Amino acid sequence: MLFDKLETLDDLFEMQLKDLYSAEQQLTKALPQMASAAKDGRLRRGIERHIRETENQVARLEQIGKNLQLDLSGHTCKAMEGLIAEGQETMSENATEEVMDAALIAASQRIEHYEISGYGTAAHFAERLGHTDAADLLRQTLEEEQLADTKLNDLAKNYLNAKAE
Ligand SMILES: [Fe+2]
Ligand SMILES: [Fe+2]
Repeated sequence: MLFDKLETLDDLFEMQLKDLYSAEQQLTKALPQMASAAKDGRLRRGIERHIRETENQVARLEQIGKNLQLDLSGHTCKAMEGLIAEGQETMSENATEEVMDAALIAASQRIEHYEISGYGTAAHFAERLGHTDAADLLRQTLEEEQLADTKLNDLAKNYLNAKAE
């Protein structure tokens, strides 16, 4: 059992926030390594931009925690641990530059989809619970994650996958 109590939607909302907080903090540490592994300049710059966005997303979660008087620390998101571990496994492979970039995009998109799912749920809970400010902040991050995913998709479709053939 991870939490003392999980009786109400408020408890579940808190659990979701803690999970996202851990996920984002893990990403701030993991993304720089992924950026330096990227060979394509657009991919590298895209990941670097997302590092700055991720730091801002951590700050948004901290703001929500402060406003709602919740301590979001102390939990580890195991799913993100696994996604990052798989990404690191990929980076240790002996791949050509194009294949490595395509693999980095694949790993990054898995991460983005996980975050999109988490923020979608958390924003919905925040709205249901009447936490309007929290819902706004969570939606801002959700949109950033969606945009990051779209950009990765465009890179994959227009350039990298063609080069890896
Ligand atoms: Fe994020
Ligand atoms: Fe993200």
